[in-house]
Amino acid sequence: MKILVVGSGGREHALAWKLSQSPLAEVVYCAPGNAGTARDVRNLNIAADDIPRLVKFAEENAIDLTVVGPEAPLVAGITDAFQKRGLLVFGPSAAAARLEGSKVFTKRLLRKANIPTAAFAVFSNFAEAEQYISDGDEQPMVVKADGLAAGKGVFVCANRQEAREAVRSILADRSFGDAGAQVVIEECLVGEEASILAIVDGDTIVPLDVSQDHKRALDGDEGPNTGGMGAYCPAPVVTPEIMDEIVRRVLIPTVHTMKQDGCPFNGVLYAGLMLTAGGPRVLEYNVRFGDPEAQPVLMRLKTDLLEILHLAASGKLDQLEGLEWDPRPAVCVVMASEGYPGGYAKGATITGIEQADQLPDTKVFHAGTALDGDNVVNSGGRVLGVTALGDTLADARERAYAAVDLISWNGAWCRRDISDKAL
Ligand code: AMP
Ligand code: GLY
Repeated sequence: MKILVVGSGGREHALAWKLSQSPLAEVVYCAPGNAGTARDVRNLNIAADDIPRLVKFAEENAIDLTVVGPEAPLVAGITDAFQKRGLLVFGPSAAAARLEGSKVFTKRLLRKANIPTAAFAVFSNFAEAEQYISDGDEQPMVVKADGLAAGKGVFVCANRQEAREAVRSILADRSFGDAGAQVVIEECLVGEEASILAIVDGDTIVPLDVSQDHKRALDGDEGPNTGGMGAYCPAPVVTPEIMDEIVRRVLIPTVHTMKQDGCPFNGVLYAGLMLTAGGPRVLEYNVRFGDPEAQPVLMRLKTDLLEILHLAASGKLDQLEGLEWDPRPAVCVVMASEGYPGGYAKGATITGIEQADQLPDTKVFHAGTALDGDNVVNSGGRVLGVTALGDTLADARERAYAAVDLISWNGAWCRRDISDKAL
């Protein structure tokens, strides 16, 4: 089969790398990819959001399956565009991708299906939102822009004053443009966060082993939010009993309601949950693999990923005979550019990647890298996802950091405590 992976981050490198190991894979392309996918598969000079050119390439080259990594092209309708031309694609339609593209859509669906989530109200009028906050109790609240805001549209507010400022920024100042045409104001939940990812074909749900991300920039979960500074898999925070409750009370009714509403969900359903004293509550949905969660998850997956995604895209996931996992845990440490998640310099030469890659059970996934002649240079904020398997989580962690310590460039840094919260 000829495969096309859309995207350029660490998640897409992990997807392309895993897909290329399938005995069914004849060639794997990545559009636009990075310096890591350039080495493991074939890069295409087409942007991930250039849907017409991606469709044209897939048609002209008889691509058998396209796998879409990031949310933006999914929300923009890449799946619909491919399907219109009779091309097989793994990823939700634009209508189903509203689960990530619109928080208002998701909250209304959760309420309708009686799925546990924080109590909420929706506003498009600034004065009405302000009045609602003033009429409420003095307590923490969470204010969210409706649309895609690159992970920056959520404000956890300690009091009414902070909530008013967040609403002003979203609705009145339009800090997120049209993504802030509506706000959700919701109850602030307390508990431990967990992410559950499942492959879905519209009907059948195949949950993946649990992984845990580290969203804050600094050790001890301090500092600003990032796209994710590291992840590990499996994550003991979700016990089999909690998992069972999440499948029953969250995943099944979500997939069922999407189907009933005429927008069946096909792709990766990623539920962000708060494990509260009263049970799991949905914070948000994403409609794609997590980045960097995909890296340790795919490192452990033994079942042929191409077979899984092909069955899912074809609506035949019920034919899959369960998933097989490497029993060993995996840890992924993200190495970032100096200044990230703020501004950063690009173009520094990175050394040591090959030595790190040669360590046993270790893989350096590229994210923000590019080729400058023969040199690999940094071209993004999150640069590498250094991932290792180990007999125990502590062993995997040690191997990942041993590999990290072989790699350097001017300004490189990483968190030093990835996976410690599980130990
Ligand atoms: P979201 O994009 O909706 O997952 O929000 C991003 C982050 O904001 C989450 O990972 C939580 O840390 C926090 N968050 C979102 N909603 C709530 C809530 N209702 N209560 C407490 N924290 C929240
Ligand atoms: N690592 C968080 C995300 O992919 O949304």
